[in-house]
Amino acid sequence: MDIIIRNAKLRDKDELVDIGIVDGKIKTIGKNISAQGKEEIDASGKLTIPAFIDPHIHLDKTLIADVVRENVSGTLKEAIEIIWEKKRKYTNEDIVERASKIIKMGLSNGTTRMRTHVDVDTIGGLKPLEGVLATKEKFKDYIDIEIVAFPQEGIIKDEGCKELMEEAMKMGANLVGGMPANENNPSDSFEHVKFCFDLAEKYDADVDMHVDETDDPFYRTLEMVADETIKRDYQGKVTAGHTCALASYDNHYARYVIEKVKRAEMNIITNPVTNLMLQGKYDGYPKRRGLTRVKELIAEGVNVAYGQDCIKDTFYPFGKADMLEVGLILAHASHMSLPNEIEEVFNMPLEKSAKILRLNDYGIEEGKRADLVILDADNPIDALRLQATRLYVIKEGSVVASTLKETKFFI
Ligand code: FE2
Repeated sequence: MDIIIRNAKLRDKDELVDIGIVDGKIKTIGKNISAQGKEEIDASGKLTIPAFIDPHIHLDKTLIADVVRENVSGTLKEAIEIIWEKKRKYTNEDIVERASKIIKMGLSNGTTRMRTHVDVDTIGGLKPLEGVLATKEKFKDYIDIEIVAFPQEGIIKDEGCKELMEEAMKMGANLVGGMPANENNPSDSFEHVKFCFDLAEKYDADVDMHVDETDDPFYRTLEMVADETIKRDYQGKVTAGHTCALASYDNHYARYVIEKVKRAEMNIITNPVTNLMLQGKYDGYPKRRGLTRVKELIAEGVNVAYGQDCIKDTFYPFGKADMLEVGLILAHASHMSLPNEIEEVFNMPLEKSAKILRLNDYGIEEGKRADLVILDADNPIDALRLQATRLYVIKEGSVVASTLKETKFFI
């Protein structure tokens, strides 16, 4: 065995187990494995889980806050516009440097897979994609990165974007992104959606769009995306991020759209930290929270996960690429306080996100990829409550990060 983790607490087993790893895969799971590992790690009964997945982040824009002016209005519109000047002057080195910091931070926090959206538009051209592709190559042995070609500035209203989107797919983007609400009218939004699906079909790619990131209930592109998914027979291959307007619809229309989302087998990714900051900002009281209808979607059987989305950029000033931090915030923002609801939150950067990425090698089972995290916690609730230290982070059978926290008391 290359590594044996001793005395691991798995979520679905009462007894502690050993996990034997060979050639990057889980070879065996059992009590007191007699073989010796080249490396032995004692988990000491601590919770051992599959490594975290962040299914929605923007690596090209992270840590940009230091070099652009602040977002005075605090709106999504201004957040996007502030970056224009910086985007015109992007260099590969700049993007690689900022994205590298976040990837290392994410690894230290137990994330070994990310899906990043990357701006594709006529302002920055394909520079952001080049930078993220270079970063992906740099860290290819340590983290898996999926890239979504993201038309942040719209497609119809950004003339030339269609060609850039196609070029992005040729260069190595894995998924087609979109932002249909960022067009001048509903018919352009619909054309935007159709273009994205045409491109996805052409490159046999999944679709992951930013959908209705607004608390204005008159934005209704989620329904368009659900309809198009069903029409194209793309069920199970489409994800919608944000979907904030769903929270502002009247209940009748919201139920109608959720039913379509369910039929389309779409995944929904909520991004609580960004949307708590951006949405509801100009409400009086009562003030909206800005998140999509997380519990209602789950109740209807929709696969829901969450992403970090933004880190220290013009959209959101905080963040440290930590799925436990975002999960804790989501639990508060969506009133998920019961034990089964907290378990649901905990599952989001694990199995729920694995479903979004359509992974078939994920989980703690024999034969699956050995991407594991040992947390300094006994159970998921404590992992979130304590923001548990990630004692060991293992990617394909190699320890890629280890953190120890020690407090000295002088009392
Ligand atoms: Fe986003």
